[in-house]
Amino acid sequence: MRSHLLADSGGLTYHVRALRYRKSLWQPFAMQVARWLAAWQPAQRELVIIGPSAGYTLDACFLARFSRITILEPDPLARRLLARRFPAQHFERESLDCCAGIHGPAMLRARFPQAAFLFSNVLGQVVSQLDPRWPQALLEAMQGASWASYHDLVACSEAPARSGERHIKEDETLESLLADFWAPDAPQGTRRTLTLHDHGSFGVLPAQSCAVWSITPRQHHLVAWMSISVEGSSMTIPPMIGIGGRS
Ligand SMILES: C[S@@+](CC[C@H](N)C(=O)[O-])C[C@H]1O[C@@H](n2cnc3c(N)ncnc32)[C@H](O)[C@@H]1O
Repeated sequence: MRSHLLADSGGLTYHVRALRYRKSLWQPFAMQVARWLAAWQPAQRELVIIGPSAGYTLDACFLARFSRITILEPDPLARRLLARRFPAQHFERESLDCCAGIHGPAMLRARFPQAAFLFSNVLGQVVSQLDPRWPQALLEAMQGASWASYHDLVACSEAPARSGERHIKEDETLESLLADFWAPDAPQGTRRTLTLHDHGSFGVLPAQSCAVWSITPRQHHLVAWMSISVEGSSMTIPPMIGIGGRS
């Protein structure tokens, strides 16, 4: 088994990049996430964060809204850095792995019946390695819960031509989204080749909007996000883009 310190979706490489770019290149994306999280107003005072790493894209104001925060984070260095970065916040740790099998999401929900859940840029890293039934199991387990996720759609070495938030339409294809970011001025009907890594999450995980996160000057991720807030029987539900199969 690979150590979580060496994992591709986090670990040392991620922390070294954070040290280098967190206060510069990562700032626009971190601010985008902060705006999105400020708009997500679950009634619950308990939060479970799945994959927070050291919380490089999380902010103290958001965390302070909750009276109890539990983290599911396998990287021990990330957990230590998270506690150091947010000294005013107490984080409880839970070792349950909600990605371990198709019953993982239901176990997560059952373990924290009163909580809201934030999947913190983790599902795009893991979804292509999971049982294909896992995304549906997640949606079923999260029925009636407040939850939110931001997750990678694709990664590309070429910088996009546009920045900022982009709403994802219900009938959107990944191709049209990519064209909008990487070739917005291309004449209609023309095609161009883009070499990218597809995280396999588009049309598989719900998504309402997206933006680019430039992780390094040569690695640019298109990240999607969605959120649902539930209070009693009233629910704010986003459109479930592409659920049921990739477009
Ligand atoms: C890209 S990083 C998340 C970035 C982070 N949210 C931030 O603000 O900096 C993905 C994180 O997910 C964690 N992770 C990987 N698999 C996981 C799992 N099954 N459950 C919980 N966390 C997991 C990794 O250890 C890593 O810290």
